[in-house]
Amino acid sequence: MRFREELGTPLLEGATKILLLGAGELGKEIAIEAQRLGVEVVTVDRYDMPPASHVAHRHYTINMLDGKALKVVVRREKPDAIVPEIEAINTDALLELEEEGFFVVPNARAVKITMDRILLRKLAAEEAGVPTSRYMFAESLEELKECCENIGYPCLVKAQMSSGGLGSTVVTGKNMVELAYERAMKEARGFSKRVIVEELVNFDVEVTVLTLAHIGLDGDIAVTPLEPVGHVRSTGHYHVSWQPLFDIDPDTNYSKSPFEGYGGPMHLMEDPPINGLRWRSSWNGKRIDGERAKIVKEMLFETARRVVTKLLETKEGLKGLGIFGCEIFVKLGGEGERPRVFFNEVSPRPHDTGMVTLVTQDQSEMALHVRAILGLPIPEVKVLTCGASHVILAKVGGSWSPRYGGVSEALKIPGVQLRLFGKPVTYVDRRMGIALAIANTINEARSKAMRAAHIVEGAMKYG
Ligand SMILES: Nc1ncnc2c1ncn2[C@@H]1O[C@H](COP(=O)(O)OP(=O)(O)OP(=O)(O)O)[C@@H](O)[C@H]1O
Ligand SMILES: [Mg+2]
Repeated sequence: MRFREELGTPLLEGATKILLLGAGELGKEIAIEAQRLGVEVVTVDRYDMPPASHVAHRHYTINMLDGKALKVVVRREKPDAIVPEIEAINTDALLELEEEGFFVVPNARAVKITMDRILLRKLAAEEAGVPTSRYMFAESLEELKECCENIGYPCLVKAQMSSGGLGSTVVTGKNMVELAYERAMKEARGFSKRVIVEELVNFDVEVTVLTLAHIGLDGDIAVTPLEPVGHVRSTGHYHVSWQPLFDIDPDTNYSKSPFEGYGGPMHLMEDPPINGLRWRSSWNGKRIDGERAKIVKEMLFETARRVVTKLLETKEGLKGLGIFGCEIFVKLGGEGERPRVFFNEVSPRPHDTGMVTLVTQDQSEMALHVRAILGLPIPEVKVLTCGASHVILAKVGGSWSPRYGGVSEALKIPGVQLRLFGKPVTYVDRRMGIALAIANTINEARSKAMRAAHIVEGAMKYG
């Protein structure tokens, strides 16, 4: 493959154009990065005034699960790249558009596989051969009952296609299997009767390995994993993320920050959470030694590289460009024990936990995504500092044009930045912004980001 040699002028003949399918906060940063290179940006979402449309040249409001609607927009706009930003897109329409010659990022097959838990698990565990939780597939309630007995309790039941915790249940015993199946059927995207049952992994930390598929200096597609991002989930989605995963001090060969990790599939649980299924890592408060950190990182890189490579494999070699977010669980292991990793799933686009790279890397995950999909060289990515991100959530729903209070108090904290998304309306726990912080240690960055986020969150004014 050849690098792109030139870029056009937006809104005029010869413009280089991207079409973002989904115009949320990740799309907004992707749009900004594309704008910096003079790329014309068109956004599509199911509602008016989504964040990325504020920084785009044009916006369409359509239902992206409607293949016809999607195709008329794409054929009219004729973008150089179709960039999916969310999962809820008609993937058969994307396959058709790719057949017509459009470039779907990273490629239409990868988009289809990654939104399907069964296809993805087969690809990762059986073809790429990476470690995952133990799993089985079931196609009826009867089969599911058997699978749950086989995997053992507690286990997780997830719909074949769904996201954001919908259609997923933690099953603690026989009596919950029926409820889990009903929920998976009701909340799934599409009409599949199939579910996946997974063993519950008692991990110490969840990690996202952002992995780039880009044109390498030799002209072949290169798959490059970046410094891992650690994260913690609370209700709903990610709550805190940080990079690097461990801040190893070269002088002592131990992490500067005592470890702080939490586990448990919290948002998939009943409310209140089931006892014992929300845990603190046994490593909490302890420092990680450099040797263990190195082994973990190598295992994470190997896992991410294998999954992304397998996703892009075709008879003619690797095909596809862009960044991926590989979600991987890590068990750090006890004294004298080897750490273990378990691949969970992968997003074929920037990952919400990766927003921390806006302050930690010399190029953010969105900047890298744009560069990769435009076919530009990426010779190196540097992590410049320890940093963290913390979400700012709405606490009141149904409020139009909320006002963000506390901004000057939050920004008085050194090293803090805010990203306020500008979503037009709230719902409870909707992510309205993030606080970002840099510092000398991970824990200092995490605590600054948390303080800033809580100040703004607490001072939000709802109309
Ligand atoms: N097998 C497992 N063992 C332990 N925890 C799990 C397991 N599977 C999922 N979880 C927890 O539940 C979270 C969500 O799971 P998963 O990523 O599969 O679902 P999702 O609906 O795609 O969520 P999202 O869209 O928010 O990523 C994981 O990030 C993890 O915290
Ligand atoms: Mg996930």
